[in-house]
Order: sequence, then C-alpha cells, then structure tokens
Amino acid sequence: MRPLFTFTFLYALICSSTLLELSVAADTIIPGQVLTDGETIVSSNQRFELGFFSPGRSKNRYLGIWYKTTPDIVVWIANRNNPITDSQGILTISSDGTLALLNGTQSTVWFAKLSKTAASPVAQLLGTGNLVLTGKASASSESYMWQSFDFPTDTRLPGMKMGENFDTGLVQYLTSWKSAEDPSLGDFTYKIDNHGLPQIVLRMGSLKQYRSGPWNGVRFSGHPLPMYPGFNPIFDFNGNSLNSISDSYNIPVITRVTLVQSGSLHRYVMDETGTKWTLVFTTPGDPCDSYGKCGPNGICRINKTPNCDCLKGFAPKSQQDWEMLVWSSGCVRKIALDCQSGEGFQKVAAVKLPDLLEFQLNTSMSLVECSAECLKNCSCTAYANAFVTGGGSGCLMWFGNLMDIRELVVEGSEQDIYLRLAASEIGEEEKTYKDPSGIGHFRATSLVCGVRVHIHEINSKEKRALELMDACLRNSCVESQVQRCIQVGLLCVQQHPQDRPTMSSIVFMMGSEGSMLPKPKQPGFFSGRSSIDTDAAAKSEELQTKVPETITILQAR
Ligand SMILES: *[C@@H]1O[C@H](CO)[C@@H](O)[C@H](O)[C@H]1NC(C)=O
Ligand SMILES: *[C@@H]1O[C@H](CO)[C@@H](O)[C@H](O)[C@H]1NC(C)=O
Ligand SMILES: *[C@@H]1O[C@H](CO)[C@@H](O)[C@H](O)[C@H]1NC(C)=O
Repeated sequence: MRPLFTFTFLYALICSSTLLELSVAADTIIPGQVLTDGETIVSSNQRFELGFFSPGRSKNRYLGIWYKTTPDIVVWIANRNNPITDSQGILTISSDGTLALLNGTQSTVWFAKLSKTAASPVAQLLGTGNLVLTGKASASSESYMWQSFDFPTDTRLPGMKMGENFDTGLVQYLTSWKSAEDPSLGDFTYKIDNHGLPQIVLRMGSLKQYRSGPWNGVRFSGHPLPMYPGFNPIFDFNGNSLNSISDSYNIPVITRVTLVQSGSLHRYVMDETGTKWTLVFTTPGDPCDSYGKCGPNGICRINKTPNCDCLKGFAPKSQQDWEMLVWSSGCVRKIALDCQSGEGFQKVAAVKLPDLLEFQLNTSMSLVECSAECLKNCSCTAYANAFVTGGGSGCLMWFGNLMDIRELVVEGSEQDIYLRLAASEIGEEEKTYKDPSGIGHFRATSLVCGVRVHIHEINSKEKRALELMDACLRNSCVESQVQRCIQVGLLCVQQHPQDRPTMSSIVFMMGSEGSMLPKPKQPGFFSGRSSIDTDAAAKSEELQTKVPETITILQAR
C-alpha cells in the first residue's frame, strides 16, 4: 500500500541520522539498528507503542505492543513464554530480515519465523497495532515477510484474523495470560472449531466452557443477533469451513477483544478521552452460556428459575442432585427408544443447537428427508436444518446425548430442533388432545391458511384442491399448503381411528412442508359404496349423522 518512495526515503533519513539512533517519532527499525530496553517505536498515528515492559510487579522483561495512552494494556507479546530476566534485551533486524530478540549474553530469546525473505527489510509498527516485516518490493499485506497479527496472544484487534490458514497451517486463536504478572500461556483458549459446522469455542485446557453454537448460514446458533452488533465482524468462509473471523478496521471506535485470565472474553471500547476502556460485551454472557450447564439432555432457560429443565421425554438422572440445583448429571430418557413404529419427533423451537459431538451433516437434504433419515437410524436422537437461510436447508442429525441446549429468547429466531420421542410419549400427548367424539375432527391453530372442505365433494382431491377453497381465501393461500391441509384432513377422517394421525404428528405434518404424507384411506362417512370394506361402509351410514358438514383446518406453523 505505502508507496515505495516512503521506504526509500525513510531508509535514507534514518541511515543519514547520526549513530543510527531511533528518533522519537520512528515507527520502523531497519538492519543495523537495534531497539534496546527503554527505547520504543510508536505507530505513525500515535496509537501503538512497541518496546520492553514488565507486567505488574514482575521483574521479567518482555517485548510487547501496547496502547500509547494506556501502556498497561498490552495487546501483543513476542516472548510471552520466554522472559528476559534483566534489562539487557535488544531487538535486532538482520540484513536478510530476521527479527530477533536477544538477551544480555546475545542468546536468541525469540525470533520471527519468516515466510519469505526480501532485500532491504524494514520492521514497521502500523497504526493498527500490527508489527510487520516488509521488503523493498512492496508493502501490501500479502507480501509481508512476517506480521505480529499472525500470532495473537490474548487480544484480537480490528483487522486481525482469528482462524486457520489452510495453506500455511497457521492457526490463530487467543490464549489468556497465566496471571496479571505472567503473560505466559494460561489455561483458556478461544478458537474457531471447524468440526462439521464452524463454532467458536472457549476452553479451559481441553474442557469446553462456552461455544457459540454452529454457524447456521446467518449467525452462530447460540447468538440471536450477529455476534457483536455494531462491530461488523468479517467472516471468511471456504465452503462450509470458516477460515477466519475478524473485526473491520472501519469501525468508528477504538476497540479490542481480550480473553482475560479468568476465562471470559471481553469486548472493550475506548472512550473519547482516549485514556479509559469500557467493557461493552462479555462472553459467556449469562448462566445459560456456560457449557453443558444443564447436563446431557437438559435445556437452559434464562427467563426461568431455576434455569434448568429436562427435555421432553427425559427426567433428571439424579433427582437429588437436581433438587440441590446441581444439574451437571443431566437427564435420562423416561422411556427407552425401541425403534418400534409410532416413534416420532417433537419440535423444540428457537434453541441454540446441541454441541456437535456425535452427529452427521448433509448440506443438501431437506428437513423432511432429514426426518426420515433420522427415523431410520435407531440411535438418531434429534435432527434440525443445518442452515436457516431460504426457509431452512441441510440436515444435522445427532446421535446419543444432546449437550448444551439453550432456549433463545429473542423473537423471530428460526433455529428449531426436532427431538425423537418414544411412541408412548407421543401417545401420552394424544390423550390430552383426544377428541371426545372420537371422529377425528380437529382444529390446529394457524395464521397461514384456512380451508373449508366439503367432504362429500372430495373425489379426486389433489386436482380439485383449489376449487374446494372458499373463494375469498384463494388469493392468500399457497396451493401446495391447501393440498396439504386437505390431505391431513382426510387422514383425520379415516374410517378406523387407529389409522388416524395423532395430534403431535398432525402438528409435525403441518409444520414440515414437503414431507411425504401417507395416502388417506376411505373416510368413515364415505357415502358411496366402499370396495375395501363393505362392512365399514355400512357402518358409515350411522356415523354420517355425527360428522360435521365442514371441517376447518388451520395450518400450524
Ligand atoms: C540468555 O539466554 C540463555 C539461553 O536461554 C541463558 O543461558 C542465559 O543465561 C541468558 N542470559 C541472561 C543474561 O539472561
Ligand atoms: C446427502 O443426502 C443426499 C440425499 O439423500 C445423498 O444423495 C447424498 O449422498 C448425501 N451426501 C452425503 C455427503 O452424505
Ligand atoms: C446409525 O448412525 C450411527 C452414527 O452415524 C452409525 O454409526 C450407525 O452405523 C447407524 N446405524 C444404522 C443401522 O445405520
């Protein structure tokens, strides 16, 4: 970006200055110069400063970058795991571009591993806080021989990528300091996890503390809104893998994200005076963000006290623990799945999807195919659309325990999951909804479409679906939805009650557009001759008097 002459000019300027001492305003170091302990260079916008420091009361010396106005906020450290024990350290740059930190006995404490070499190397502290090594040829970011932004410590600055470079194998993530006085690698990491679908995971050692939830095409499923509203994160995808996440440079505030020693990710913004930081965002943000708070098969609800519940069909594994508000043992199935017919799914709306522990992902399947596929495999415990875009697409299936589900309280969240339930669980539900008349007349709530079906008119229902609709509704209805309503209606009025769908399966059929519906058999009040069951046809004469003339089906959505 910077014109070539700038470097030539700077080079000439610095070389011609006596004794190669760094001028106060310098933001560069060139071969032949050294930065000794006590000296600093400052970015040209006066925001960042590079030099030696000691954290807190520590006597150890580190080479780092900090804000000029708040020197205690260190954003990068060269030798975090290898301190210099006295103030004899120096930073040098050799003619081939090697940037090295030497201690008092000239031993290399740290050096920058170059991706390439170039003539006339210059180390420069940019206004973004990035320390870069450039050669003579050009100074665009692609041509940096090395940059500190590739090696984050505990802080992510705007323009700094967190992710994985699949070409170089370089993985960039945040690691907390050990303590306020020891910047060496602490226990906590914050990292993109490209396992199936990308998630961002905060760990203590290998233990997950928080995860963002899988990327659903629009956002991470655990976040009702874009990750940091107003901060415009830049996502760089490669197919379904998230290469990197970064904050744009073009934010009107000075901001940073720091993984603090206690294991939280803090977003800070500098106030107008340029000397004070305000904490604006913390992750984890609330008790339900805490990984697996409600244990396996539990669901966390932030607006409920206590926060934890078992998913439908599950009960606390230890009632005693649960009563003592210790939820980590989670929940177990009340009735084991036996994979007999009648098993089905219950929708749980607006949730952070469970962790991707044992799962399968198929990005091309529809929700209905996903349901059928999950039902086929006895150990499949739940499924969901992988992506919410375009009305939902792709298939995620979970096997075994469901971990770290939370309810999302923001309205309009379209991230739903379907839980597998035993036939008898679904049966229980049926009892609640059972129509005392036993005829199968039902009403389900909806806003989308209403159909008035005159049963005696139905012969070739599929083709005549639209004729059956009240004219006033014709313009506001989708034909496929109307046909679906009719077909479900016909299933409900089949002659034999055991053929009729349960209330929960009706809700599912209405909610999952495009799924294959069973072909309805003869209705119980069919007025013509039945070729299937003459006996039943005779009985239908009696039934007919009880059947309402019209059935109103309102589609549940
Ligand atoms: C410099 O580093 C070397 C290697 O780590 C070490 O043996 C030596 O004692 C250090 N010198 C000083 C003055 O710290
Ligand atoms: C995804 O599902 C489709 C349709 O069932 C299938 O043809 C395809 O092979 C599946 N893809 C993978 C990667 O399993
Ligand atoms: C069910 O899915 C699991 C997990 O993918 C797999 O290991 C198992 O072989 C599948 N079982 C059947 C019967 O397809």
